[in-house]
Amino acid sequence: MDIVSDFSLKKYNTFGIEATAKQFVAVHSTKELKTILLENKAQKKFILGGGSNMLLTKDIDALVIHIDLKGKKIIDENDDFVWVESQAGENWHEFVLWTIDQNFGGLENMSLIPGNVGTTPVQNIGAYGTEIKDTFVSCEAMTIENQQIKNFIKEDCNFGYRESVFKNEAKDQYIITSVVFKLTKTNHKINTSYGDILAELEKNNISNPTLRDISTAVVAIRKSKLPDPKVLGNSGSFFKNPILLKTDFEKIQQKFPEMKYFDISKTEVKVPAGWLIEQAGFKGKRFGDAGIHKNQALVLVNYGNATGQEILNVSKNIQETIYKMFGIHIEAEVNVI
Ligand code: EPU
Repeated sequence: MDIVSDFSLKKYNTFGIEATAKQFVAVHSTKELKTILLENKAQKKFILGGGSNMLLTKDIDALVIHIDLKGKKIIDENDDFVWVESQAGENWHEFVLWTIDQNFGGLENMSLIPGNVGTTPVQNIGAYGTEIKDTFVSCEAMTIENQQIKNFIKEDCNFGYRESVFKNEAKDQYIITSVVFKLTKTNHKINTSYGDILAELEKNNISNPTLRDISTAVVAIRKSKLPDPKVLGNSGSFFKNPILLKTDFEKIQQKFPEMKYFDISKTEVKVPAGWLIEQAGFKGKRFGDAGIHKNQALVLVNYGNATGQEILNVSKNIQETIYKMFGIHIEAEVNVI
């Protein structure tokens, strides 16, 4: 476990931004993590998982601890369900594929989401009608301050749309080291409620989809809309879809009757930010090496050498334009560092 000085983080963030860590160390076990935290008590620390949900706008003047804990196993099962535990540093998509290989159901709609398992509860990742909270049982986390292990069950996590306790009350206090999911062994709940999935299955003449069929369909949809971070730097959706009170939405809708929306409760609607950004003319636009993806306006991209600040400026330009046009504030989903 070597601590390296002046370490480039370009390969450790999916935006591919060049930024330097004052110090960097990768930890491979909870024991190593505990030692590093204990030995560097006075140091400022920055915890790095898969680097798939952050925009680095400056160098990091801290000890960057990269969580590289590996391992996954079945910890319990009965006739219908299986409880699987994954260490935080496992790649999310590889973990999902491992569950599908064994015909364990529940994660297939979230195939190909970039990042590592340990960060999935932080923003309650989700796609195509499924969120982590639907299969999440618990996670273990270590306190940065005194290296105590705490077990968070689902009720402790306050999951919401791209929200959890780890983004709020518990922010910067814990490092998630492992996560447990409860998956189905039989009677899988195949979820094709999201229109894109049904269309993709129909295209391939699949009427009775297996878990793998769903995963394959999701991978195809994502590949057609979302850029591969290895080819074009990005962090998935840069913004959250705004949630509006129905009463406010109805006033805006009078001016923009074609505005897309989804009911999420009796009093609230969600508006697709991608639609707003597209209407504002940003889709596919490029400002130097920073840009807006041509197939999905929610995704900001780095064409090569954009700085974090340049991407941030584009995001602010989008937010201000959307606010002026529609009176709607769109909030970043990505953590801006
Ligand atoms: N839309 C546009 N223009 C665009 C993008 C979207 O008009 O450029 C419209 C679409 O026509 C559609 C609606 O917006 O009517 C929704 O689009 P889509 O199905 O692509 O989903 P999204 O709301 O844009 C969300 C998640 C994605 C997730 C997809 C599928 C958020 C912030 N984003 O995007 O998550 O993959 O649904 O479930 O909730 C991520 O978080 O990184 C991510 C990619």
